[in-house]
Amino acid sequence: MTSLLNSHSLLIAPEKSNLELQILGGYPLQGEVRISGAKNSALVVTAGALLCPDDCCIRHVPSLLDMTWMGQILSSLGVKWEKHGDVLDINASHISQSAAPSELVGRLRASFFLIGPLLARLGVAQVPLPGGCAIGARPVELHIRGLQAMGADVQIKQGIVHACISGNKRRLQGARIYLDFPSVGATETLIMAATLAEGETMIQNAAQEPEVVDLANFCRTMGAKIQGAGTKTIAISGVPSLHSAEYSIIPDRIEAGTFLLAGAITHSQLSVAPVNPQHLIGVIDTLRALGAAIFADASNRLRIVPKQQHVAIAIETAPYPGFPTDLQAQLMAILALSQGSSIISETIFENRLQHVTELNRMGADIRVRRSHAIIRGVSQLTGTEVVGTDLRASAALALAGLAADGITSLKGLHHLDRGYENFEQKLQQVGAKIQRVQSQAESGKEPVFSTLHG
Ligand code: UD1
Repeated sequence: MTSLLNSHSLLIAPEKSNLELQILGGYPLQGEVRISGAKNSALVVTAGALLCPDDCCIRHVPSLLDMTWMGQILSSLGVKWEKHGDVLDINASHISQSAAPSELVGRLRASFFLIGPLLARLGVAQVPLPGGCAIGARPVELHIRGLQAMGADVQIKQGIVHACISGNKRRLQGARIYLDFPSVGATETLIMAATLAEGETMIQNAAQEPEVVDLANFCRTMGAKIQGAGTKTIAISGVPSLHSAEYSIIPDRIEAGTFLLAGAITHSQLSVAPVNPQHLIGVIDTLRALGAAIFADASNRLRIVPKQQHVAIAIETAPYPGFPTDLQAQLMAILALSQGSSIISETIFENRLQHVTELNRMGADIRVRRSHAIIRGVSQLTGTEVVGTDLRASAALALAGLAADGITSLKGLHHLDRGYENFEQKLQQVGAKIQRVQSQAESGKEPVFSTLHG
């Protein structure tokens, strides 16, 4: 079997990597960035493949550290898989373990939603609580309450969630579930659990994110009966079993948004493809509010034509179709260079403004009041050493580096590698001066950018 493990050079103790990104700012970008399959879809669709005892073939799967960890978790459960390029073949005919390993689940919070397919397939599951992370507490009580409503007996012992189907029932039971908040993960857990349940499940106040729709479409390809995905009410009519399927993951709207914002911050015309423009509706509105023009050159391509000066805006993050929390940090980098004062209110995660400190170290003028960032635009950022504290914060600092005066050294790349495939290569191809090197402090070498193309 081919292993993702060998294909990722940063797998071994990525946190301890002494690599950094060096970015020489001030160069315009030009051309088109190829967008990979969506990380958040690929993770959940891969988990969803455990619902089916036959072969599943999943296409457009990005090569990311998060997928590497998911592959390790699948192997520990006895699931067979192979990855060739962006095609993932999975066979979960035999699941030898109902317990997901703590160390790996701790690394990959998204793996908690394995509880849905494991419980539905095996009638029993043990998955460690994901715990807090850099951006917030990440509770899972909505997942658990929903599973309980479907007849699961759930107990938490020493940080592990033990779930089994209660009584002498062999299948979960359809239920009417109202989510207090439209949680993406809880909606996905409950969709997966309900596909194999007995009877009808109705999820109200469901998340409407495109990744939820992607999961539902994948499950439907396997024979699940699901209606309403993409709306606030999802109805699932349980079936006794699912069958083999081939499926293609949607393009990553967050990666596409990140590169459109890279165009904005460097005042460059940049295209991204393939994308589904509908998935980026809240992002397109925001870019237009900044003063940029956005064109759909083809049905699956977007091009940004930014103004020389960005307009200050007030915006809050919101569930889809609002402005995504996963692009909040990257947007802040642009607003740091806009004309006037902007406000970003982070409404989804309670601790997702840690990039402010690092942006300020680059010369930004940003203050934080509770969940609001007040951003006074400055005329120039200056390159310095910065550390990404989470995935999207790292992307934001890289964007700031593209526009800054001088060289930015970005550390903490294991965060970036969790969610962006070939990040610096994609930027190099459109003319950015960016390279991954051994940390300068350790190598003692001065940065040399002349070898880069672009
Ligand atoms: C997913 C995405 C993540 C994105 C987020 C919001 C994946 C792998 N990750 O994360 O990139 O930033 O959606 O779009 O798809 N909450 C509860 N109780 C719960 C579950 C969630 O209070 O049981 C809260 C969370 O603390 C958070 C909010 O709901 O404040 C949103 O979380 P949720 O939508 O569940 O995000 P994730 O699925 O974890």
